[in-house]
Amino acid sequence: MDAALDRMYRYRLPFLQKELAHLPEHLTLGDLRGLDHYHYCGTTAIDQAIQRLDITAQSHVLDIGAGVGGTARYLAERVGCRVTGLELQPCLCQMAIELTERTGLSERVTFIQGDILQGLSGQYDAWLSLLVFLHIPDRETLFQQCAAVLKPGGRFYIEDYVQLQPLTTSERETLAHMVACPDLPTIEQYQAHLQQAGFGDIAWENVTPAWREWVQQRFLAFREKQDDYRQKHGDELVESYLSFYQAVAELFAGGNVGGVRIWGRRDF
Ligand SMILES: C[S@@+](CC[C@H](N)C(=O)[O-])C[C@H]1O[C@@H](n2cnc3c(N)ncnc32)[C@H](O)[C@@H]1O
Repeated sequence: MDAALDRMYRYRLPFLQKELAHLPEHLTLGDLRGLDHYHYCGTTAIDQAIQRLDITAQSHVLDIGAGVGGTARYLAERVGCRVTGLELQPCLCQMAIELTERTGLSERVTFIQGDILQGLSGQYDAWLSLLVFLHIPDRETLFQQCAAVLKPGGRFYIEDYVQLQPLTTSERETLAHMVACPDLPTIEQYQAHLQQAGFGDIAWENVTPAWREWVQQRFLAFREKQDDYRQKHGDELVESYLSFYQAVAELFAGGNVGGVRIWGRRDF
C-alpha cells in the first residue's frame, strides 16, 4: 500500500479500538457517532447523497472506499437498501465487518476488500464515494472501473477535494505526504475525466465554506480534549491526530484547496 496512505490511517484503528472498549457489545449507529465516518460533516453528507442517488429499499448500492463502514450502515438503516462496501485496507475492511455485525446490519451490508482500480464484478443501481478519490491519481482507470460497476442509467455521488487556485509548493507537499493526495484536479478537469468515462448529467456544488468551518472545528475540538485523549491513547497518537487535523484545517483556510459534491449518471 502507498506509504502516505499507510501513515494517514495507522492511528485510526487503535483509536477506534480503544473507544470501542467503552461501548456495549451490541451497538446502535448512535453509539458510533463521531467514530465511524472518515468523511466530513457526518450523516449530513450521506443525506445529501441519498437525495441525489434516487435509491429505494430495493436498490443495491456500492460504497467505494468504505473505510470502517459508517456510510454503508447509515444508508442501509435510513433507506433500507442493500449496500456493498469496497475497502482497500484489510484492517479497515475487517473492522467494517465487525461493526456491522455488532449493529445487526450484516444481512443488508457486506464488505469486499479490494482496490477499485482492479475493478469489481457485478453492476450496482448506484454508487457513492466520500473522500476517497483524492487518494487515486489514475483517474482514467478509476472512472472506467466506476462506470463498469454501474448499471446503465445508474446514478453516482462523489464528495472530494478539488484545486480552486494554483497550489503552493508547501500545500503540494502537505497534500502528498500527509493527506495521501499526490495530484489534485480542478473542477473542470474532474468533470472532463467523468465525461470521458461516459458519465453524463453531471452537476456539482462547491462545499468549501462548510468544509473549511468543519475541519477547523474538528481541529479545535480535538485540541480542547487533548488531555483526555493523551491519557486514553498516549502522546504519540494524539500528536499525530493534532498535526493531521491542523494541516487539513490550514489547507482549507489557505483558499487554494476546496471541496465539492459531484453527482450524475452513467450515460450509456
Ligand atoms: C477518507 S477515507 C473515507 C472512508 C469512507 N468513505 C468514509 O466516509 O468514512 C478514504 C478511504 O478510501 C480507501 N481507499 C483509498 N484508495 C482506495 C482504492 N483504490 N480502492 C478502495 N478503497 C480505497 C482508504 O483505504 C480509506 O479507507
